[in-house]
Amino acid sequence: MLNSLGHPDTLLLVGGTSEIAASIAATMARRRPLHVVLAARPSSRRSAAANVLTGLGASVEVVDFDATDIPRALEDLRSLLARTEIDVAVVAQGRLPRQSDLENDPVLAVETCTINYTAAVAVGLLLARQMREQGHGVIVALSSLAAIRPRRANFVYGSSKAGLDAFYTGLRDQLRGSGVRVLVVRPGFVHSRMTRGLKPAPLAVTPQDVADAVVAAVPTGNGTVWVPRAARPLMLLVRTMPGPVFRRVGL
Ligand SMILES: NC(=O)c1ccc[n+]([C@@H]2O[C@H](COP(=O)([O-])OP(=O)(O)OC[C@H]3O[C@@H](n4cnc5c(N)ncnc54)[C@H](OP(=O)(O)O)[C@@H]3O)[C@@H](O)[C@H]2O)c1
Repeated sequence: MLNSLGHPDTLLLVGGTSEIAASIAATMARRRPLHVVLAARPSSRRSAAANVLTGLGASVEVVDFDATDIPRALEDLRSLLARTEIDVAVVAQGRLPRQSDLENDPVLAVETCTINYTAAVAVGLLLARQMREQGHGVIVALSSLAAIRPRRANFVYGSSKAGLDAFYTGLRDQLRGSGVRVLVVRPGFVHSRMTRGLKPAPLAVTPQDVADAVVAAVPTGNGTVWVPRAARPLMLLVRTMPGPVFRRVGL
């Protein structure tokens, strides 16, 4: 349950080694004692993420989660949810291969869509059912500005995030009145492991900027979180731009 200030006791990070998710967890852990569950593939990164949170005073549990093996991932998450009441869950797993590699390798494209979209649907449905039964909870889905209007330069990744965005927007409406809230977070370019080596887009932000926006929205929010906020009017413009103009601008 969230406390009177809107802070959780238990936090689940699906894609627990994500830099953005790690910043959210660290920001929350600095505020109050927190139990964090890192659902992630076993790796030294997962151990390092757990150590950082333990160092901040959080109790940390790890659960194996590979988004390309959805039946197994669901089984492990189901058993976690049967023993632990989750207050806030962040759905953060994602992959951003080069667009040219995706265009040349349909198997890579399908795997990317499985991680970014299909697994996110499976996890969202599981979390929604569990949180509806417990009567409370906040699901934070990491969408992207790329979801608003997929571009020539990244339409495979963009389409997977558009699917995730549409799914969690619908889930939010379905859960209205249940005590469960859904935040659809749309960051622009974030300086993280995912974008290392890429040229930053305008309005680029840091994982901490995303974490601050999420932590501010968790207590009462039930809508869309734009990071930075200035991206919202810009993307409304992008969404309504005629196709030829959109292609010429080359966003
Ligand atoms: N960075 C950006 O510019 C940006 C902008 C908007 C939205 N987002 C979204 O924000 C989320 C987090 O991204 P980030 O910037 O924090 O990047 P990140 O640090 O690279 O995090 C990506 C996460 O996805 C996990 N992942 C990848 N493949 C997986 C698989 N098969 N099974 C389970 N987990 C898998 C990674 O785990 P491993 O450690 O096991 O690889 C890692 O935890 C993503 O959904 C991304 O699409 C990012």
